[in-house]
Amino acid sequence: MKIAVVEGDGIGREVVPVARQALEVLRPEMSFFPVDVGYAVWEATGSACDDEAMRDLASADAILFGAITTPPDPDYRSVLLQIRHQLDLYANVRPVKGPGFDIVVVRENTEGLYSGIEWTEADRACTVRVVSRRGSRRIARYACGLARGRSQLTVGNKANVLKSDVLFRNICLEEAARAGVPCSTQYIDALALDLLMQPSRYDVIVTTNIFGDILSDIAAYLVGGLGMLPSANIGRRHALFEPVHGSAPDIAGRDIANPVAAVRSAALLLAHTGDAAGALAIEHAIEAVFSRGIKTRDLGGTAGTRAFGEALIGELSRLARR
Ligand code: NAI
Ligand code: MG
Repeated sequence: MKIAVVEGDGIGREVVPVARQALEVLRPEMSFFPVDVGYAVWEATGSACDDEAMRDLASADAILFGAITTPPDPDYRSVLLQIRHQLDLYANVRPVKGPGFDIVVVRENTEGLYSGIEWTEADRACTVRVVSRRGSRRIARYACGLARGRSQLTVGNKANVLKSDVLFRNICLEEAARAGVPCSTQYIDALALDLLMQPSRYDVIVTTNIFGDILSDIAAYLVGGLGMLPSANIGRRHALFEPVHGSAPDIAGRDIANPVAAVRSAALLLAHTGDAAGALAIEHAIEAVFSRGIKTRDLGGTAGTRAFGEALIGELSRLARR
């Protein structure tokens, strides 16, 4: 199995190596190859992800991804959006798990307000929010597939205001009825608050692109911040795994970033390849390190990224030898 590794920028370069080591311990047969994408590449070449890099990503069985710093260029088009579009990674899956709650945010990942259809005029700028029947149906089916093995589906939407969300909500309701999944709908603004106040009421939440982006960052509040949340970007042929957080330039290069989100993304990669035991081992190793009081600064601890990583890899090696 060939894994493309994009460290990217900022703390991506610090947290991805820990995630990669975790995979190396658990799956020695995996092979890894680096792909250069991001701000540094943009500075050198004017393009943050060229055709060759895109071909390399497409050739991998899975992609382990860090984060990319957005360059200060008014014409710059987000690399990650480009990758999601080109590899058709239509489902962005973000599990949020803690004591008393087990939530998965399923975010439509190829259209909505991130359609890429936008322009700037003299006195205004426009971005087109595209919600297609096909795009909604496939994300609804994906979410229903997840919810079927669990308990219920909530459709986060703003259908009281947006026609595009009337379509999205209705298709989700249809698909849930067809799949026999208990389903309710909720306006996204009220949902954002209720998710924090009553997280145990939620299971699988499906929503459109930007709402899912915002909702999953908010949900990080439930588990200790952005350093904790992983994500999977899933398509029919390709899959990319990355922390929910960005490149965090404010803390980059200081050995203080929390690598848990990246390591959990590696766990999602393992689960995606059918290795549920490997994914569970990673979760157990994280628990074991935390229970020894080893935590990074964002969680109130004093461990650096490298020290936390070493403790984690130590635990994983012990678990893997059993
Ligand atoms: P961010 O997620 O990088 O950082 C937000 C805040 O959370 C910062 O204070 C940061 O220090 C903290 N934080 C994030 N990850 C952490 C970790 N692992 N451990 C400890 N603290 C952590 O978002 P921000 O600041 O809005 O964006 C920074 C850059 O990243 C921008 O250029 C943005 O465009 C890019 N970005 C890239 C993403 C990607 O490549 N997937 C996603 C989000 C932002
Ligand atoms: Mg985000």
